[in-house]
Amino acid sequence: MDKLKQILTAKEIDERVSDIANQISHDFENSTPILLGVLKGSYIFLADLTRKMKIESEVEFVRLKSYNGNTSTNNVKILYDFNKSLEERDIIIIEDIIDTGNTLNFLCKKIQELNPRSISIASFLVKPESNKFRFKIDYIGFEIPSDFVVGYGLDFNEKYRNLDSLFCLISK
Ligand code: IMP
Ligand code: MG
Repeated sequence: MDKLKQILTAKEIDERVSDIANQISHDFENSTPILLGVLKGSYIFLADLTRKMKIESEVEFVRLKSYNGNTSTNNVKILYDFNKSLEERDIIIIEDIIDTGNTLNFLCKKIQELNPRSISIASFLVKPESNKFRFKIDYIGFEIPSDFVVGYGLDFNEKYRNLDSLFCLISK
């Protein structure tokens, strides 16, 4: 059995996601942004965020894979792509967590080529110690240490995504 230690409660997460939804609703009040969820980890954050937002929005998904077990690799692969035009649209990339930044670096370059009006980034979690690209993240849920975490969409070998709060995986 894996050993888990809670680091954020469901209430703390809910309050923070509400704040971000309000900020996004304010910043994009004259636009219909496309929220581009990075599967699979962002699905719960995206679902909660969109239900709390007070403006119209559209949702698309992309599926990328950079992790093997609990190790990030530089080799990012596209497993599922969208076919919607992003030209002249405001795009908000929705991430579960930014660790090394490899995934985001890859995705931003790809989106840029599709001539959107703007690209913003919302990430539920950021591990500032490892973000080697120094990306400007427009909306951050929580900054956490570099430990491996699960819950609220994040997995360890596909387990624990359904937990409604956030846990640190302390032993396997
Ligand atoms: P990066 O490319 O290193 O920034 O990692 C991006 C992806 O790795 C995230 O979108 C997650 O899917 C996964 N990941 C990174 N850190 C963790 C973690 O602590 N728990 C679960 N998944 C993680
Ligand atoms: Mg992810």
